[in-house]
Amino acid sequence: MCGIIAYVGPKDATPVLMEGLARLEYRGYDSAGMAVVGTGGLKVRKAKGRVRDLAEGLPRRFKGSPGIGHTRWATHGAPSDVNAHPHLDGSGQVAVVHNGIIENAAVLRSRLERQGVQLVSETDSEVLAHLVALADGADLEESVAVALAHVEGTYGVAVLDQRQPDRVLVACNGSPLVLGVGEHEMLAASDVAALVRHTRQVVHLDDGEMAVLTADGYRTSTLDRRPTSKRPMLVEERAEAYAKDGHPHYLHKEILEQPAVVSRTLSGRLDERFHTAHLGGLGLEARDVAALRRVKILGCGSAYYAGMLGAGMIESLARIPADAEPASEYRYRNPVVEADTLYVAVSQSGETFDTIAAVRELKRKGARVLGVVNVVGSTVARECDGGIYLHAGPEVSVASTKTFTATAVAFGLLALFLARIRDLGPADGKRIVDGLRALPGQIDEALGVDRDVAAVATTYAERQSILFVGRVRGYPVALEGAQKLKEISYVHAEAYPASELKHGPLALVGPEVPTVAVVPDDHLLDKNLSTIAEITARGGPVIAVGHRRELPGATCVWTVPKNEPELDPVLLGLPLQLFAYHLAAALGRDIDRPRNLAKSVTVE
Ligand code: G6P
Repeated sequence: MCGIIAYVGPKDATPVLMEGLARLEYRGYDSAGMAVVGTGGLKVRKAKGRVRDLAEGLPRRFKGSPGIGHTRWATHGAPSDVNAHPHLDGSGQVAVVHNGIIENAAVLRSRLERQGVQLVSETDSEVLAHLVALADGADLEESVAVALAHVEGTYGVAVLDQRQPDRVLVACNGSPLVLGVGEHEMLAASDVAALVRHTRQVVHLDDGEMAVLTADGYRTSTLDRRPTSKRPMLVEERAEAYAKDGHPHYLHKEILEQPAVVSRTLSGRLDERFHTAHLGGLGLEARDVAALRRVKILGCGSAYYAGMLGAGMIESLARIPADAEPASEYRYRNPVVEADTLYVAVSQSGETFDTIAAVRELKRKGARVLGVVNVVGSTVARECDGGIYLHAGPEVSVASTKTFTATAVAFGLLALFLARIRDLGPADGKRIVDGLRALPGQIDEALGVDRDVAAVATTYAERQSILFVGRVRGYPVALEGAQKLKEISYVHAEAYPASELKHGPLALVGPEVPTVAVVPDDHLLDKNLSTIAEITARGGPVIAVGHRRELPGATCVWTVPKNEPELDPVLLGLPLQLFAYHLAAALGRDIDRPRNLAKSVTVE
C-alpha cells in the first residue's frame, strides 16, 4: 500500500526519491508525489497515476535536499492530484507524507477549521501538516511530537520544514519505517526495497519512536522525546535482487526461481544425524513441545492458505491437532487463547495490519506466538517470541508465489521438528529429511511444464469461471490455485474440497466451466478419479495436476515428481501458479500489479 521515501544529504534528492518511488510501486498505489527543499524554499509536485506520470511532469529546476516522496493508496478521498501526498500547511513551509489511517481525522479537521485553517484535500493526512505548523516548537522534533500527540490511529510519517533545511523528521506508530544509514547521507523508507540501492545498513523504528535525520546521521527518541538507542543492522537483500532478469514480469521470475528459494529456506536446517530440523530461532525447548496440545496458524490471503498446508503437515507428522484461520477475522471473535497452544503468525511482509493485530491480541492474552516471515526485522518478526525466516529474497509481484512455496517448506521443517520431539520415529524422520532435501531438484523438474501450461492456459483464457477442487492435502493447493488465478487474471475462480462437489458446485459444471483437479497418486486417488468422472459426465473439461502421466477423463494432466505424501502439496501447487500466470498474460493483464490489490496491506 502507501509508500514513503525520504533523503537528506549532499546529493540532489529528486533522482533519489524518484528511484525510491519506483521501488515502492510494487506495493500498490494510485498517485505519487514528492517535495524537496531547494533554493527558494519548498517545492512540491504530485500526480494521480503512475510514478512515471510524476516524473514526466517534473520541471528541470526541481532540485534540492532534503526531500520526501510518497506513493498513495487512496483510503480517505479519491485518487487525485490534490489528495496525493505530500500535504502542506497553509503557509507552504511544512510538507508531510503519511502512511496509515488517522482515526480522529474528522475531529481534527473541524478543530482546525474552527481555528481558521483551510483544508484543501479530502485526506486524513493533511491535518498533520497543519498540526506540525501550528505546534510551532523550538525545533521540528518538538513540533512533530506535539502534533502527533493529537493523533489517534496509525502512521508512518516523514516531515520537512523549509526553515530547517538540514533535516527530515520521521516517526511511526503501526506503520513501518526503516532508516537507511549512508556515507554522509541518510534515507528513510517504509520498505527496505527503496533503500538497498543506497545502503544495506538499516535501523527499524519501533512503534512510538521518531528520528531526526541529517547528513551526519540520526538520533532516535520516543514520541515524548526520551532518547532511544538503536544500532544499524545489515539487510540481506542486495539491489540486484530487485531486477527482473530478462523475464517479462516479476511473477514469472519469482515462480521460476523457486528451486533456489527453497534451497535457501532449507539451508543449514536439515539435521541428518537425528533426522530432524534445526530451527534456532524458535526458542522452543523439548519440554515446551511435549506439553503442546494444539497449534493454531494465522495469516491472510496466500499466507493463510500456506498455513492450511502447514496445519496439515503438523497434524499428520506431529499428531498435534492443528488448524489455520484468517488472521483478519481472529481478533473479532474474542478467541479463547490457551496456554498449551502454539500460535504461528504467517506473513511474507511481516507488515499485514490484520496479522499484526492478531499477534498483539494473542500476546495481550499471554500466548506464545511464532512468526513465519520473509522480511527480516519486520513488525511481525519483531513482535513474535521466535520464528522462522523464509530467506526467499524480496518478492516484488503483488501475488505471492515463491513465498507461498517457501512458507509451505518452512512448515515442513516445523512439522518435522515438532514431530521428532513427539512420536515420529527416526525412520520416518529420515523419510521427511530426504523428502525436503529432494525438493529443490523436484521443483526445478515440476516447473518444466511451463510451456505446456502456457498452451493450455491460452485455450481457457476466455472462460468466465474456473473451478478448482482438491481433497484433504490437495484442498489448500486448490484454494491457492484459485486465489492466484482470480488475483492476476480477474477470471472468477472458486475452490472446493472435491468431496463437496456434489453438495453444491456440481450445478455449475458444464462444457463452459473447466475444473482444475488436484489428483496426487495417494490413498485418495480412486475418490479423485470418481470426482473427475462426475465432472466429465456433465461435459465439464478437467485439467488435472498429479503424478500419473494420464488420468482417465482428464483433458490434460500436468505431472509433477512424487515426494513424500506430506510434502507433495509443495510440488502440486507449482503448475497452478504457472496456469494463473499464463492465463493472465494471455488476457494482457497488469500481472505484477493487479487492480485493487496491494502487496502489503498495512491498514485494516
Ligand atoms: C495481500 C496480498 C496477498 C497476500 C496477503 C498477505 O492481500 O495481495 O497476496 O497473500 O496480503 O500478505 P503477507 O505479507 O502478510 O503474507
